[in-house]
Amino acid sequence: MADLKLTDIGKSYGEVSILEGINLDIKAGELIVFVGPSGCGKSTLLRMIAGLERISAGELQIDGTVVNDVPPAQRGIAMVFQSYALYPHMTVRDNMAFALKIAKKTPQEIEKAVDNAARILQLTPYLDRLPKALSGGQRQRVAIGRAIVRDPKVYLFDEPLSNLDAALRVATRIEIAQLKEAMPDRTMIYVTHDQVEAMTLASRIVVLANRGISQVGTPLDLYQRPENEFVAQFIGSPSMNLLAGEITGTGEMTTVKLDGGGVGQVAVATTEADMGLKVNLGVRPEDLAPTEGQGLYTGTVDIVEALGEVTLLYFEPQGDHHALIAKLSGIHADLRHGTVTLTADPEKLHLFHQGRSLRAR
Ligand SMILES: Nc1ncnc2c1ncn2[C@@H]1O[C@H](COP(=O)(O)OP(=O)(O)O)[C@@H](O)[C@H]1O
Ligand SMILES: [Mg+2]
Repeated sequence: MADLKLTDIGKSYGEVSILEGINLDIKAGELIVFVGPSGCGKSTLLRMIAGLERISAGELQIDGTVVNDVPPAQRGIAMVFQSYALYPHMTVRDNMAFALKIAKKTPQEIEKAVDNAARILQLTPYLDRLPKALSGGQRQRVAIGRAIVRDPKVYLFDEPLSNLDAALRVATRIEIAQLKEAMPDRTMIYVTHDQVEAMTLASRIVVLANRGISQVGTPLDLYQRPENEFVAQFIGSPSMNLLAGEITGTGEMTTVKLDGGGVGQVAVATTEADMGLKVNLGVRPEDLAPTEGQGLYTGTVDIVEALGEVTLLYFEPQGDHHALIAKLSGIHADLRHGTVTLTADPEKLHLFHQGRSLRAR
């Protein structure tokens, strides 16, 4: 069991600040996912927790003890990297046993730990193979096995699936979820840039951006109540559409006149002081539906992507992106070049002013 507490953690390389003011409480048994764009500092934060990188500012506590200056091996943490880095000349069994041999465990203890890890990871039939005789997914499981045998209080994963092909990534993702379930009291921190991994694995997601934490919440919190435009557009695929407009009616229900001509009713409470406020109305592609009446948006379909279970409609190209994307369930291949008006449930809409959600005020 291990709680972690990050207080005002910062990291800089010389003059360059990478992370600032990271405050986070992680409860024992949580599976926390750090997600964010490439280069935002996810690995750096994880490596500071592991003790592989010096903490420039702030305090890291594990189970109430400050560990800033505690060496990695004494933090009760094991880390699994993107590159599995197995010893190529050692069998699966010896790869998993290696750290325990170094730690001078008895042969009996080692055998028990390796057999247990192999069972959890379904590697028992492969214990006497060399890494080269394994698939990528199996090699990654051996790398996880090396962490399990050490029985750490905290597991750290840095993009463990990114070297796997798409099908294996899904399978291994599910295995990691099952692994977590088999070890309910172990704390796990998992880094990824893949929002689907974040959504499917996390008990809570920490979105990192601009040197800090953009939002922390359960996957559905972030999906349903993003506090800012960054999180709104980072979580969900395709990204949430943002339509510029102005508040023309306030109250429990807010009216927004959109620059494109549409009008939105949004179930976000505003006050008279908000009249005339410039806002972005946020609507997810999957929340849009065609209407015969007045809507949020009317446009000509530029591209149709019929995926079978859903159809993506791309409206009005604007340089490298489209003005709006709608995701309709079912097949609508006949809408290409057609003009469509779209509407959405007021409860599903979001309002942002200067990048911040009006719901989060
Ligand atoms: N040793 C280093 N010296 C200077 N800058 C570094 C060093 N390591 C990482 N960085 C910078 O820190 C930032 C965050 O890197 P990283 O934590 O690897 O991002 P992520 O894992 O989110 O992709 C990047 O801009 C990277 O260039
Ligand atoms: Mg990284």
